[in-house]
Amino acid sequence: MPIENIPRTIWWEEGKVMLVDQTRLPLVGDVLVCNNYKGVCLAISTLAVRGAPALGVAAALGMALWVVEDSWDIYDHREFLRALDLVAHDITSTRPTATNLFWGAERIRRLAHDNKELPLDELRDLIVQEALAMQAEDEERNRAIGANGAELLAEGSRVLTHCNAGSLATAYFGTALGVIFTAHEQGKIERVWIDETRPVLQGTRLTAWELRVAGIPSTLITDSMAASVMKAGDVDAIIVGADRIAANGDVANKIGTYGLAVLAKEHDIPFYVAAPTSTVDLTIESGDEIEIEERDPLEVAGFTASGMFEPDSETATKAFDMLTEEGPYSMPMQRGHQMQLTRKGGAYQFDGWFRMAPPDVDIYNPAFDVTPAKYVSAIITECGVARPDYADSLSATCSGAGGLDELRKR
Ligand code: MRU
Repeated sequence: MPIENIPRTIWWEEGKVMLVDQTRLPLVGDVLVCNNYKGVCLAISTLAVRGAPALGVAAALGMALWVVEDSWDIYDHREFLRALDLVAHDITSTRPTATNLFWGAERIRRLAHDNKELPLDELRDLIVQEALAMQAEDEERNRAIGANGAELLAEGSRVLTHCNAGSLATAYFGTALGVIFTAHEQGKIERVWIDETRPVLQGTRLTAWELRVAGIPSTLITDSMAASVMKAGDVDAIIVGADRIAANGDVANKIGTYGLAVLAKEHDIPFYVAAPTSTVDLTIESGDEIEIEERDPLEVAGFTASGMFEPDSETATKAFDMLTEEGPYSMPMQRGHQMQLTRKGGAYQFDGWFRMAPPDVDIYNPAFDVTPAKYVSAIITECGVARPDYADSLSATCSGAGGLDELRKR
């Protein structure tokens, strides 16, 4: 299937963590090399790697990276575990909402504490192997979510999705998009409506790209168009991912999800949430306990753009070469716009931020919202499909799943 053409977003290579820089996709496909765990932290907070399941994998690989890069001068077990705990703390301090980040770090931390009698070399190896196993498990889970969710869709389905819950948001394959990929293979998908997902445009940049690569008919709309597309009778189901699901089935996901769920109820459209059990947080009773990340107001005040170009004349090439000979060149821009030029082989890359709002406007930028369980028709996990009442069905559906067992032990 053409989905296999989508690159992995995070992987381990020769003792380093490699990441496709999602802030610049799809027009620039840079691969970032993280040489130490602080680089992974930065990648998480700047959204170079994003999406709840991918954050769980990033947490685990980040800790493995600390183990292979920075722990060699530690010979004492207590000191090793104390330092590992601090690394886990740093990693989980990057973003507060997606529970997978905490789950990923906690699984590695607990593994280390449970095996503290091992010689340190063996313990280090165990941690790296566990992180790699978590990456492989995430892909397996997503493929199972895809199979479970596809059963809910009828032939000829027109599905609307929000944000990016695709391969890029996971170790591979995706959750909400995993359902769509699987249903597409079964010939069930007529069209996917993609919400652009302001302010960071994960729908425009990432979901639209993934669906195109996968060869699935899709149409991009702005977030405010979703209501009228539903009213016109052009949506048969909505499928989104999740960042954290409370024990009662309340779902935190990308800002704008709640509005879609209310609209879905009004138009009698099923509203499905697809997520691995590592996203379910049974330690909280309801969504009221979920911390919602507030991000930089500049995300709302303007937009970023990246791209590549080749000059069309020798004179232009000379001029750009001069500007960039000592490294990236920041253009002097007015009114707060920012623009940087970087030489990349024979071509150039531009990275810009362009202001749209007046400089002094007050801005509120919550990255997520919470959809009350009463609007959620079903939660699709790798273990099966949970239906209301979620207080019972979530734990029953997932009983025995690694993710939930881990959480219960907390
Ligand atoms: O801020 P982001 O891009 O990390 O937000 C991502 C989402 O909200 C996704 O829908 C969610 O993490 C599920 S990804 C499978």
